[in-house]
Amino acid sequence: MNTVKTVNELRAAIAQARAQGKTIGFVPTMGNLHAGHIALVERAAQNADFVVASIFVNPLQFGPSEDLDKYPRTLRDDQQKLIDAGCHLLFHPGVEDMYPHGMDSQTRVSVSGVTEGLCGASRPGHFEGVATVVSKLLNMVQPDIAVFGQKDYQQLAVIRMLVRDLNMPVEIIGAPTVRAADGLALSSRNGFLSDQQRAAAPALYRSLQQIAEALKAGENNFAALIQTAQQAQLDAGFRPDYLEIREAYSLRPATAEDRHLVILLAAFAGTTRLIDNLVVER
Ligand code: PAJ
Repeated sequence: MNTVKTVNELRAAIAQARAQGKTIGFVPTMGNLHAGHIALVERAAQNADFVVASIFVNPLQFGPSEDLDKYPRTLRDDQQKLIDAGCHLLFHPGVEDMYPHGMDSQTRVSVSGVTEGLCGASRPGHFEGVATVVSKLLNMVQPDIAVFGQKDYQQLAVIRMLVRDLNMPVEIIGAPTVRAADGLALSSRNGFLSDQQRAAAPALYRSLQQIAEALKAGENNFAALIQTAQQAQLDAGFRPDYLEIREAYSLRPATAEDRHLVILLAAFAGTTRLIDNLVVER
């Protein structure tokens, strides 16, 4: 697996694969790779001949008081994991490669609708930063398919929307959330949890499962379900950020008539913010 830093090197390597008639699969990440990321790489390898991954901690999607500086950077380990997963090319640009004219003058991509509420409300500017960098990466790599995790459910919806609205010729594949044995969704931010917080963290997924069971049993008092679940999160030592039941495709607030639902949550353990979600069909 080659690691390249500049867009020119990236394009040259991909042109070579294209010249051999290969299809291109792409997995963008911010690094510190875990089994969730690796599952995306394996999925890309099943669906394309030549797999490109990127590692770029994108300053544009972090708020001023967020964890950009302490975001874990583990390139060596990541490279080995990517090789083991069957990745062919790693794109690892610096901020100066991604934003050569500075971030302030960078053209932005702003997706409406699905960015409203949830993480869009708690993290102003976040999805504009994500949509902008993902648009740039998709234009740089020009893959046939790109794989994203359902773990970041709203992000996946944002990316599907921007690809549709900007007519990008790429198929977006959503891959299921990979969890630890106790149910906690794998995340690079789990490493920030103390032992005690880590032990309590499966309560988040449990609260999603409990709501899902009730919804499947026909419960339509969403507010009551949410209140009970948020109390359970508080009891486990978490500070709820949001917990909402939405229609799974459009992400609009759910109604009793909706059959495809998604429960989405964000919660803080100390300063660490975790997110999770669960889709419910009924
Ligand atoms: P990052 O948080 O590194 O995640 C990269 C990809 O891995 C995303 O598509 C995310 O949904 C997926 N992922 C993370 N944890 C997962 C898990 N437990 N199971 C399955 N997939 C998981 O998301 C980003 O980076 C950035 O916003 C990015 C899209 C790269 C743009 O900067």
